[in-house]
Amino acid sequence: MKIALIGAGRIGRLHARHLAADPATRELLIADALPKAAETAARDTGGRSVPTVDEALDLADAVVIAAATDAHAALVRAAVERGLPTFVEKPLALELNETEDLVELIEESRVPVQVGFQRRFDRAYREGRRLVEAGELGRIYLVRLIAHDAEPPPPAYIPTSGGMFRDSSIHDFDAFRYITGGEVESVFALGTVRVDEVFERHDDVDTVGALLRLADGTLGVLSATRHNPRGYDIRMELVGARDSVSMGVGPRTPSRSLEPDASPTEAAWESFLTRFEDAYRAELAAFVAMARGESDSPCTAGDAFEAMRIAVAATISHRESRVVKLAEIARSRTEVTHAPVS
Ligand SMILES: NC(=O)c1ccc[n+]([C@@H]2O[C@H](COP(=O)([O-])OP(=O)(O)OC[C@H]3O[C@@H](n4cnc5c(N)ncnc54)[C@H](O)[C@@H]3O)[C@@H](O)[C@H]2O)c1
Repeated sequence: MKIALIGAGRIGRLHARHLAADPATRELLIADALPKAAETAARDTGGRSVPTVDEALDLADAVVIAAATDAHAALVRAAVERGLPTFVEKPLALELNETEDLVELIEESRVPVQVGFQRRFDRAYREGRRLVEAGELGRIYLVRLIAHDAEPPPPAYIPTSGGMFRDSSIHDFDAFRYITGGEVESVFALGTVRVDEVFERHDDVDTVGALLRLADGTLGVLSATRHNPRGYDIRMELVGARDSVSMGVGPRTPSRSLEPDASPTEAAWESFLTRFEDAYRAELAAFVAMARGESDSPCTAGDAFEAMRIAVAATISHRESRVVKLAEIARSRTEVTHAPVS
């Protein structure tokens, strides 16, 4: 299969490596708005850099989009209109109304599309989902979601990212839905700038706390920061009536226990690239299978839309200091409230 990779930045280079190593890839065509970025990724992986995105799409049998978030909507549209099976990094699009338009386009076209919420491919997260589905945890009381980045993203990334809730916490919102199988009914979120005032200059925040409530009453408690001096700390903890389990808690968890009998720890997770390397590889293997018609999308445009609705609700909640019901987050509502959404 000829696969076009659009966007050869931090995550694009990792995807290039995994795609190049997949025996199903006959040729990897790499395009980026910055031709040098495409050339470097091609040189490092044995792929071929292509001067324009259009050329890469014209030559490809399937597409992986890892360009900046503000480019996703147009690139997904171009790929789907060509009928190409498409993988797109999260979020599906920068804005909720664009996301909704894409969901319609994708569903009508029936072109297979997978969105890059890689935690769905992490072994511990998958086991968590299995346990919930099998009822082994009993009734879930509460889910704790932790997302503390090791380092903030480069300053140039911030203005095109969509803001912390839509760029980062959206992973936690998707994981909350994925693991519990439930839908969020309401959100109360607070955000603040504690790490670096560059976030404030871009009307963004770098430290977040949020309470989520599922329709069945289960609570979610999210904490997220753009910096953690000990490393990249992504966890989920579920407390149920029959068991209590955690994902991301182990010898590499970047938090120093002060308990006298705590076991010595190993080198902490440094970044998303290493923490989720296996999950990124597995999600692209799933994409290749989907592109060959062997399986359905494991993370649909509809899933991405639901995660985006929660992210928009959280952003409004933070801005307006109030609980936001997800029922408010429909397209008409977004058009009214769009301006203040960071
Ligand atoms: N799933 C994850 O864990 C994860 C992690 C990091 C980033 N991401 C997502 O991946 C995307 C890229 O993030 P990144 O950290 O690699 O960013 P980055 O800034 O390192 O790279 C983005 C690349 O996209 C290119 N680009 C921008 N607009 C383009 C266009 N119209 N056509 C072609 N190329 C274009 C840029 O030149 C740059 O090389 C973002 O949407 C981000 O949300 C996901």
